[in-house]
Amino acid sequence: MLGRFAPVTFKGSCVVLSGATSGLGLALARECLSRGVKTLAVIGRNAEVLENLRSAGAAQGCTVLCLECDFNQDAALVQEILKSFMARVAAVQLPDLVIACAGVSTTRGADGLEDLFEIRRAVAVNVLSSMSLLYLGAALMAKRGRGRLCVISSLASLVTLGSSALYGATKCCLNSYAAALRSELQSRGVGVTCVIPGFIRSPMSARFKGRRPLMLSAERAATRIVNALEMGKDELYFPYLLYVGIRLLTLLPAFLRRVLLRAFAFEVLPDRELSLHKLRSHAHGEVLGEAPAGKAEDSGFSAHDPFRAASGKAPLGMQPDVCTETNFKVETLRRPL
Ligand SMILES: NC(=O)c1ccc[n+]([C@@H]2O[C@H](COP(=O)([O-])OP(=O)(O)OC[C@H]3O[C@@H](n4cnc5c(N)ncnc54)[C@H](OP(=O)(O)O)[C@@H]3O)[C@@H](O)[C@H]2O)c1
Repeated sequence: MLGRFAPVTFKGSCVVLSGATSGLGLALARECLSRGVKTLAVIGRNAEVLENLRSAGAAQGCTVLCLECDFNQDAALVQEILKSFMARVAAVQLPDLVIACAGVSTTRGADGLEDLFEIRRAVAVNVLSSMSLLYLGAALMAKRGRGRLCVISSLASLVTLGSSALYGATKCCLNSYAAALRSELQSRGVGVTCVIPGFIRSPMSARFKGRRPLMLSAERAATRIVNALEMGKDELYFPYLLYVGIRLLTLLPAFLRRVLLRAFAFEVLPDRELSLHKLRSHAHGEVLGEAPAGKAEDSGFSAHDPFRAASGKAPLGMQPDVCTETNFKVETLRRPL
């Protein structure tokens, strides 16, 4: 039974997948279609990509149900939306597999820390939405006595990376939840796979500035994951060499580990949403002469930002080459005042 339980048969099955609109999630959606799923329920924010998946599915006789949803909003609302979507999916076909793949990387601010906005967003997307989706899937599967849940974690959850402390912490949370769910659900016929990948080529990893050893394409990563699910594996680590290296690192004394990890230190450039958030906070703060009350601490870049005062430079997220089109929005925000 160990490591081989509740294998997934993709042909004719129903798969629910979050983060289906980019990188690994999109590759997983395509892999599911190519293996002949009957119903594919995809969640993301990009309506155009969701629509493309719907047409691709229709062309091969697969019903594709789409949910366009931003997980970075009121948690109760996101749960309600997910609940009604899962009910819609279940009315078409009961899910055989639920994959929680949506995730965001986190970026350090000028003070070298991930700020309150990043904490809120990373927990909302990486933890809250994933756990909620897995719970909803588990409830349906446990009732039926069959199914598999899949969590996309990261090798970053196994080591403390200064450049991505918050990201690693959210993924650690998922590892722990997956392990607990596995032991709780096994007697009810439901398996849980925790995928712990290294670097995957995607829009997310394109923002990692530093070494990205043994990086895999999203397609290769998706094939490995789907193969592991077909075998009913509980855990999947890849690339294995990097996993073993990290495990060996964790056996070293902390000071030695920190020294070695410096060779792999990397910075994560902000994504569009974070850049937009910082530009908005900045514009608001500058127009008023100071950051708005109650907002200053979570903007990550108030008018009194000590980094800015000292260097006269904008933090990483403010640099125009990272998110040029949002500069236009800032101009628009400033004009009426
Ligand atoms: N890339 C790597 O090197 C790597 C390594 C280990 C683990 N992972 C994990 O693999 C998973 C997929 O990552 P990826 O590399 O494919 O990244 P990606 O290309 O940035 O895709 C992330 C997915 O999550 C969705 N998402 C992000 N924020 C969201 C929000 N607020 N609400 C709803 N959906 C949201 C995105 O939707 P949009 O398309 O709308 O943005 C997208 O579909 C993540 O869980 C990530 O942590 C990645």
